[in-house]
Amino acid sequence: MKKIYILSVAIILLLNNIVSAQHSGRPISTKDRWDSRYAREMYLYGKEPAVFLKQKIAMLRKGKALVLAMGEGRNAVYLAQNGFDVTGVDISEVAIEKCKKLADERNTKVNSVVADLTDYDMGKAQYDLITNFYFYDKSLFSKIIEALRPGGLFVLEQFSIEHLKQGTHFGPKNPDYLVKSNELLEIFKSTRILYYEDTVVELDEGMHKGKAGVIRLIAQKSN
Ligand SMILES: C[S@@+](CC[C@H](N)C(=O)[O-])C[C@H]1O[C@@H](n2cnc3c(N)ncnc32)[C@H](O)[C@@H]1O
Repeated sequence: MKKIYILSVAIILLLNNIVSAQHSGRPISTKDRWDSRYAREMYLYGKEPAVFLKQKIAMLRKGKALVLAMGEGRNAVYLAQNGFDVTGVDISEVAIEKCKKLADERNTKVNSVVADLTDYDMGKAQYDLITNFYFYDKSLFSKIIEALRPGGLFVLEQFSIEHLKQGTHFGPKNPDYLVKSNELLEIFKSTRILYYEDTVVELDEGMHKGKAGVIRLIAQKSN
């Protein structure tokens, strides 16, 4: 009860801040935009993990996991339930509060960090697993490889450029946030690509519902 009260007060304060930004003509920050999207009871991408993560869980080496842009925690909580020591990072405080609630519901724990990934220090050789679902910032890839332990895995799923032609209404329209054919194969050429798929699938993950062009990648840092 106390948690729901604190979450509600936090959401009201954040929404006040967003409304005042709109009225003052101040540009709305990325953080405010995401906080306002998450400021509703429902889980925008659902409470269950992404299908791709669930399909591949058996091949992921247990240990320390970093979940980038974890949102409301569907994947972070799932990894914690599967024995990983999970740290999840997101710019939205509201999303992180919802992740904590989901972890409580599932009797597990995620270490959560509110941070902007564009200047977040992931460290060096820290993680056995790093995941990146539906957040695309190419400038992070060299830091991700550095932050993996030797033999550690990176798992990504993101909309592809094909999504503009074949996908349904949801997802980014700006090509900067869509993965081009084969570009990840080039970026991750120093790693061992264990899995790569450029495909069109039917997603049913909260607001991601319908046909989608996606890239799926699992890359292993060399030993
Ligand atoms: C499309 S959602 C995906 C959430 C989650 N990965 C999932 O698949 O359920 C994108 C996420 O990126 C987060 N985000 C956007 N810009 C960010 C930034 N600069 N640093 C950290 N997180 C960011 C948003 O708050 C949001 O949770």
